[in-house]
Amino acid sequence: MKLDNNSWWKEGVFYQIYPSSFADSNSDGIGDLPGIISKLPYLENLGIDAIWLSPIYPSPMADFGYDVAHYCDIDPIFGTMDDFNDLLKKAHEKGIKIILDLVFNHTSHLHPWFLESRSSRNNPKRDWYIWADPLKGKRPPNNWQSVFGGKAWEWDQSTGQFYLHSFAREQPDLNWRNPEVRKALFEVIRFWLTKGVDGFRLDVVNYFLKDEKLRSNPWKPGLRPYDMQHHFHDKDQPETPLLMKEIRQVVDEFPGRMTVGEVDSRDLKKIALYYGTEDGLHLNFNFNFLEQPWNPGKFQSAVLGWEKILKEKGWPAYTLSNHDVPRHMSRYGNCPERARIAAAMLLSLRGTPFLYYGEEIGMQQVRLPRHQIKDPVGRRYWPFHPGRDGSRTPMQWDESPNAGFTAGNPWLPVSPNYQYINCNQQEKDTGSLLNFYRDLIACRKKSEALRRGSIRFLKDKPEGVLAYERTTAREKVLIFLNFLPEKIELTPPAARSYTTLFTRPDRPAKLQKGKLFLPPHSLIFLKC
Ligand code: NOJ
Repeated sequence: MKLDNNSWWKEGVFYQIYPSSFADSNSDGIGDLPGIISKLPYLENLGIDAIWLSPIYPSPMADFGYDVAHYCDIDPIFGTMDDFNDLLKKAHEKGIKIILDLVFNHTSHLHPWFLESRSSRNNPKRDWYIWADPLKGKRPPNNWQSVFGGKAWEWDQSTGQFYLHSFAREQPDLNWRNPEVRKALFEVIRFWLTKGVDGFRLDVVNYFLKDEKLRSNPWKPGLRPYDMQHHFHDKDQPETPLLMKEIRQVVDEFPGRMTVGEVDSRDLKKIALYYGTEDGLHLNFNFNFLEQPWNPGKFQSAVLGWEKILKEKGWPAYTLSNHDVPRHMSRYGNCPERARIAAAMLLSLRGTPFLYYGEEIGMQQVRLPRHQIKDPVGRRYWPFHPGRDGSRTPMQWDESPNAGFTAGNPWLPVSPNYQYINCNQQEKDTGSLLNFYRDLIACRKKSEALRRGSIRFLKDKPEGVLAYERTTAREKVLIFLNFLPEKIELTPPAARSYTTLFTRPDRPAKLQKGKLFLPPHSLIFLKC
């Protein structure tokens, strides 16, 4: 089934690849583009429609690619521009779209723009970044803190000013209020879209603009200094959503492309501001969803709350794992049964599902000893925060050394459980999590209601069950997910007839004489 060119980003299944950790073709221990190309048949078989590649641009890797030193090139550790063109071509041949990660809040401190900017106060690019004079006693211009810890201002001895970095000091913030900066970044968008890239994930969009007067944030109680402030002035400025409209205009010069914003906020109303069916970002992540405990009621409230705010105007995007948070397999107790229910939920809610590499085989969070930690967050906050490496460990392909990820020395350790959690083993096992994901995605592909239907939660159901219906003019599907390790019986709404679209073959849920019998951690999609 081919997805419509204008709505593929609503109906398709996205798969996030963290390039350093997916597949290494040249044995340097770091995943690369030829490695990803070699795994396209696997991804095609899984049934995904689009790949989101975390950054692949030249970078000194202070934040593992989220510190970009050149926006229109490929870091040699990942390959060459020819490799990228090849990936794009081969993915497209398989009907798989590719979206790139645009890191536009900041560049690397080694980006030529920043090198120029810091070279002198009179440099024409001085105003491309956010520079400010010290307060009396060489104190920073205000109280802003870096998300990664410490002050958000770095002193530049040679020019006698501070520059702003919302993240690491190697990631100076761009000044989006400067029209030349906008122009240059819009050209980056055009560069990749001209190549044929299908869209972008936009890093921390709500940080792009800051208070023009650089006013200090008010303090509040919190754990780390960053959490001890109301972020009134260093992010979420009223003009930022307007900036998204400008970005959208550029993207719309190329039909059929999409954008998904990372809005670092838990305030649903604020996240919604970045949306626009016609003139804002197509999708935005809402991380409230992935922060829910293993409780169907909590997921229901999270979805309902979001539906209410987005109304008709926006299409939700859901994810349970990414490169910044612990893998959901482990957050929910390393229980493969729960992983099946979580997958069924993610792939049947109204919204675009984003999978994170390895979740389809149940990869777990890895605990690293301090000396193996690479992530700047972990290096600063260990053991209080072990950092994000634990969800970025190499993909577990098979039971050969290093899980078949590399013939070299992997840049992050491979999980010790790869001998029994890997793709090769799960390929062979019809009851595996991998095959469960495949069947689920195939089922979603065939059902118009699952892909684009409206959603309504069923009120009359036992506590451990999440139950909803997805409806289009032509199709209605009821979804029942048993979150508990015990069997549950319920009475589904009356219907003329029911057909089972999907259930676990090893634990089939059954409809008998108007009653639905759900074995422990089972599920059923009923078409009526
Ligand atoms: C959000 C990205 O997801 C994260 O990995 C990165 O460290 C920060 N933005 C800074 O770019």
